Amino acid sequence: MTDASGTEVRPSRGRKAPGPKGGMVLGSALDFKASPLEFICYVHRAYGDVARFRVGHQHWYLISHPDDIHDIMTKRAKVFLKPAIARRLWDKFLGDGLLTSEGEEWRRQIKLIRPAFAKTRVAAYGDLMVDYTHRMVDAWAQDQRVDFSEAMVALTLEVVAKTLFNADVKGDAAIVGEAMHVLHEEMLNHIYMPLPVPRWWPSKANRRKMKAITDIEEIVRGFIEERRASGEDRGDLLSTLILARTEEGEQLDDKEVRDQSMTLFFAGHETTAHAMTWAWYLLAKHPEVTARLQREIHAVTGGARLKVEHLTEVPYLEWVINEGMRILPSVWVFMKEPTEDTTIRGVHIPKGAPILISPYVIQHDGRWFPSPETFDPERFSPARSATIPKGAFVPFSGGSRTCLGKGFAMMEAQLIIGTLVQRLQPTIPAGHVPEKQAVLSLQPMGGLPIDVVLRPFGAAAQEVPASRQPPSPSEKRPAVPSTCPMSN
Ligand code: HEM
Repeated sequence: MTDASGTEVRPSRGRKAPGPKGGMVLGSALDFKASPLEFICYVHRAYGDVARFRVGHQHWYLISHPDDIHDIMTKRAKVFLKPAIARRLWDKFLGDGLLTSEGEEWRRQIKLIRPAFAKTRVAAYGDLMVDYTHRMVDAWAQDQRVDFSEAMVALTLEVVAKTLFNADVKGDAAIVGEAMHVLHEEMLNHIYMPLPVPRWWPSKANRRKMKAITDIEEIVRGFIEERRASGEDRGDLLSTLILARTEEGEQLDDKEVRDQSMTLFFAGHETTAHAMTWAWYLLAKHPEVTARLQREIHAVTGGARLKVEHLTEVPYLEWVINEGMRILPSVWVFMKEPTEDTTIRGVHIPKGAPILISPYVIQHDGRWFPSPETFDPERFSPARSATIPKGAFVPFSGGSRTCLGKGFAMMEAQLIIGTLVQRLQPTIPAGHVPEKQAVLSLQPMGGLPIDVVLRPFGAAAQEVPASRQPPSPSEKRPAVPSTCPMSN
């Protein structure tokens, strides 16, 4: 076993982690399933930075100190791998794609795929992201009620299909949306149920899940077959996958191309969509932040379309996105598993125990983020962000397994949100407080309704008609609904 510095140490049992006892048979499985966010916030608040709870026969560990999280993701990354439960959950859907692979297999895959996410490659997608955003808003009418969340999922789906696969999926958004919904539900049942129905059993749930996978697979197979038939190198991710050769000169086989394509299609849209949905919600509640954003974008673009080149000149836009992902991270939890008995903060963690790391819990901890419920993008200004401990802001995980699409997603979110505040005034219906739904990603339950308030394109913040302005900051607004108030 290794310690925090990576040196070999003799295994020690360490202390037992504190945590709720739960019921005799299921442990805390039902509490966790009923309200996962509230439950893990409670476990952290009540039992501290290394806590555990039981799901059926197995203890799960919740690790919430930035130093430990940073260690797990970096120095001890060779010990803490993707958990077996994630591989089991995803194998039918994502196969041996990047999200689930480990060791040599993962190294071989990432070497092949990473070039498709190089900064210059990704920057070339910027205009398309802005085009699609304008096209979406062009179809909206003043005062129309729109589900912003659904619109963002459809938009990011189109973007990922076009940029990475050069495919148009406008007509398929509803099919993918429905399939994703089913997968979220069925995967969660599988996670929380200590005695799940075997995956091969032709139960209703398994049939529903397999249909959802097949629906997405058919779309992705369409991309692959079309490209194989044309044999063309279009310079996008799909060409990289189809034409790539390993060091031994081997091509990826059909299953490998399928697994990576499914992984990127899946990982590449919903997470960004929910991050933008929450950012929009927070902007709607904080008109002073919106006004500053609109002013700063206007100062740089002069009222013209936002471009990738502008982004470095509007750092506030990136701070807004970061602060949105701090308060409402779309990936609210991710998992690891130690390959050997180990200790964290003197607490014994047995080999193979599922470890939960929750960006939501840690990013709401007042020790690292004072007044954690306050939406304050300035936290990410260079001076203040330098004081955030490593491992405390982890919306994209970290270390060697950092999200491959981080640069893509950050650019996409900035371009789309930046373009949207040029075209629209962020609003939500009066009194609407979205309920958080922590499924595989954190999303507003039932979507996020907005009433479209168009702005004259190219308007600076003060040019918005007064009647259309959201309430002034001094007016009482409901606070960000909090489920994780930290007392520390
Ligand atoms: C705001 C948007 C996004 C967030 C918050 C996010 C977050 C994450 C997180 C937390 C992980 C680690 C998961 C784990 O360890 O279980 C991850 C992995 C990954 N993400 Fe993202 N992601 C986003 C967007 C994207 C996009 C746009 C793509 C691709 C186009 C992408 C592709 C991937 C891949 C391939 C991995 C696996 C990387 C590896 O293990 O080597 N993600 N992401």
